[in-house]
Amino acid sequence: MLPEALTRALREARHVCVLTGAGISAESGIPTFREAQTGLWENYDPLDLATPEAFLRDPALVWRWYRWRREIVAGAQPNPGHTALADLEGLVPKLTLVTQNVDGLHARAGSRTVIEFHGNLFATRCFVEGCIVNAAEDDAVPTCPACGSHARPGVVWFGEAIPAPALDQSFAAARDCDVFLSIGTSSLVYPAAGLAELAKNHGAVVAEINPNPTGLAAYFDHAIPGNAGKVLPELVAQLGDRQSRR
Ligand code: OAD
Ligand code: ZN
Repeated sequence: MLPEALTRALREARHVCVLTGAGISAESGIPTFREAQTGLWENYDPLDLATPEAFLRDPALVWRWYRWRREIVAGAQPNPGHTALADLEGLVPKLTLVTQNVDGLHARAGSRTVIEFHGNLFATRCFVEGCIVNAAEDDAVPTCPACGSHARPGVVWFGEAIPAPALDQSFAAARDCDVFLSIGTSSLVYPAAGLAELAKNHGAVVAEINPNPTGLAAYFDHAIPGNAGKVLPELVAQLGDRQSRR
């Protein structure tokens, strides 16, 4: 069921760029953003909690939501999709992995270099200065020891800029790659979603892996309707076979 043209392009690729979204961690039990929420937070719109305005309005509420997410992630394990991407790194000459996820599961699965486009859930930063803060876990709203301001989760919120190094490296990789894989993302949030378009415009073969084809699927070369935890190990197995038969 995997397109032969895609495995061929991967086999011949000099540089593969991968963008992942919440869907790749869904099989690890981590809720995505735009699909049904469960339990405690079902009455909150996560998109309303991920803004600087929400934090200024009610920092304790925002912190409760992030602590809940930290707990879920701390109790979760990388799944075969994450592991397959870590394996892919060893099968192609160059791989750039860009993730919109803040859960750190790619690194835990063994991926060596990961560009964390939206920051990291386990980082805490000063709301005013942006510096990393070592905060006690039990403070309802931690404070920055340097300036006394509230500290915040070290993630990128709506309305905020992507850190310049992450942005520059990702866009450079999208322009340079021969194959671009867009995995488990709804392709709705820019600038991340623009990476696939940029890669396509620069001549890369672009493929999406998502059980629900996104609005950009028609624009891509391949849209593989399946779960990342199933499709990626198949893809990597095919590639591994072919590499060893070279
Ligand atoms: P979304 O929640 O928007 O989309 C998750 C996507 O994963 C959907 O398209 C699902 O169809 C797909 N999906 C679900 N299960 C899957 C599986 N097993 N395998 C593959 N795909 C699966 O999440 P993102 O696109 O990551 O930003 O959202 C982008 C950004 O919006 C997030 O980084 C976050 C959010 O607000 C910030 O916090 C700045
Ligand atoms: Zn400070």
